[in-house]
Amino acid sequence: MKKIGIIGAMELEVEELKGKMVIRRRVEKASMEFLEGKLNNTEVVIVRSGIGKVNAAICAQILCDCFKVTHIINTGVAGSLKNEINIGDIVVSTDVLHHDVDVRVFGYPLGEVPQMGCLAFPADERLTQLAVSSCKEVNPEIAAYKGRIVSGDQFVSDKQVKEEIVSSFQGFCVEMEGASIAHAAYLNHVPFVIIRAISDKADDSAKMDYPSFEKAAAAHSAKLVEHMLPAI
Ligand code: ADE
Repeated sequence: MKKIGIIGAMELEVEELKGKMVIRRRVEKASMEFLEGKLNNTEVVIVRSGIGKVNAAICAQILCDCFKVTHIINTGVAGSLKNEINIGDIVVSTDVLHHDVDVRVFGYPLGEVPQMGCLAFPADERLTQLAVSSCKEVNPEIAAYKGRIVSGDQFVSDKQVKEEIVSSFQGFCVEMEGASIAHAAYLNHVPFVIIRAISDKADDSAKMDYPSFEKAAAAHSAKLVEHMLPAI
């Protein structure tokens, strides 16, 4: 039977989904609270991982080991890396990588974790397609893009840094957890997708824009996740 692990880094990214679920069990592990139960009749485990790649990786591994989830979805917000992708739009992952890994000295491409055998972790194609089509149904006024998501332990709010990330990786948006969730899902052979709504442009305006738009953006992404669950 399918059981979907849903991770948000921050409470505002999962609070609406938690509020709508029928909770059967609460489990605390690694200082995270995992809520197991049903959301619109789909078996789910919803959790706030905390911010950054280490928290998110620990969280994804617990979902695999202790809850035996069959799929992982990460919902949240991100900074746009493309001019045409605006605040409020949605990006759904095709693949995901660590933009802050650098072992080029031993011949690995920038972003590749040595000995993983891949630069970017491929998202599940069916989940990606489903998220994009669900977005069109549930948020018709919002543009949904399919593309690469890049992650690092850094809030990108500087034009220069953004440009370096764009030219190195051709990402659609940048955030702080997706690659480590993808990495853990890849190692555990669990299909995953990262869904992010844009809260800022990851440049010098990000510090101002992020606090204004994070809540609405997080709500867009969560609404989309809720809508796609029955079709997984
Ligand atoms: N999450 C939302 N906006 C972000 C940004 N600009 N950099 C990293 N993570 C983000």
